[in-house]
Amino acid sequence: MTGSLAFRLPKAELHLHIEGTFEPDLIFELAERNGIALPYASVEALRAAYEFTDLGSFLKLYYAAMNVLRTEADFTELANEYLAVAHSQGLVHAEIFFDPQAHTSRGVPFRTVIDGLWSAVQNSASHYGVTTKLIMCFLRDAGPRAALATLEEALPFGDRIVAVGLDSAEVGYPPDAFADVFARARAAGWRAVAHAGEEGPPAYVWAALDRLGVSRIDHGVRSLEDPLLVDRLRAERIPLTVCPLSNVKLRVVDSLAAHPLKRMLDAGLLVTVNSDDPAYFGGYVGENFAAVADALDLSDADLVRLARNSFEASFLSAGERAAYLARVDAAAAAVPER
Ligand code: ADE
Ligand code: ZN
Repeated sequence: MTGSLAFRLPKAELHLHIEGTFEPDLIFELAERNGIALPYASVEALRAAYEFTDLGSFLKLYYAAMNVLRTEADFTELANEYLAVAHSQGLVHAEIFFDPQAHTSRGVPFRTVIDGLWSAVQNSASHYGVTTKLIMCFLRDAGPRAALATLEEALPFGDRIVAVGLDSAEVGYPPDAFADVFARARAAGWRAVAHAGEEGPPAYVWAALDRLGVSRIDHGVRSLEDPLLVDRLRAERIPLTVCPLSNVKLRVVDSLAAHPLKRMLDAGLLVTVNSDDPAYFGGYVGENFAAVADALDLSDADLVRLARNSFEASFLSAGERAAYLARVDAAAAAVPER
């Protein structure tokens, strides 16, 4: 029963890089449409390269594939494909990351990116039954000056963006350097999130909370190494957007069976399950739910809690959140006890 519940439960996804939903078929299609040669002979050859040793080895391929995203329509199509697939696995709300610097740095205007994504986001409720918000991430390895310039470029589009985030290579790039940029973003009315504690130490999670003023931590799995940090995260109900299949693919954990998700739940942390970069890591949000249910022997009650957490941790209004939570409870009640 748990397997089907993993897909049927209404879910929000809070940790999803839209560029990480770029499936090999679409990469090839857009490369051809835009007249760009790929260094891979076929879709199969590209897929065969998806063997990662760490975050860095993944990011190299992730940024290289993006090179074929050029037009507004490309970004719209990318987002639409994600929404269709994820909705088929129970997704009803998505807070979607995008990496503008990965596009502006190669000559694609910020407006092309935001207009393309906005077109998909605006239609997502009517086309796919999925409500959406956009989160603009800064690339931490590009430094705070580039982040500030990106923030300035984004401010005129303020009403299309709910929050800023921080992603890309983590170790060696602690959050502290971005304190001013995040303060400006929050002063402009945006919320803040940051990747921390994926490969980096618990100190990066503390810094994201204390220096950046984030309301969620993305990944945060290494927080368990610091009992004081666990106490703080639990006491303040700070959500951790965990990505199980990603953690296995990027070797943050040895196997799904060794994943700390269940321990995090048992420690009373507000954890959610997300797909991160599903085209690269072997599964969308429902597949992540199903995989952890199986590997960690989660109960139906655990899955319902994870689905509820996904809305509790979202940036939805209180009214929207309550309506989604009622949908989760109705779906859970329709399932016989195991
Ligand atoms: N960008 C896309 N996926 C990422 C991840 N898992 N960690 C950091 N930056 C990312
Ligand atoms: Zn991520």
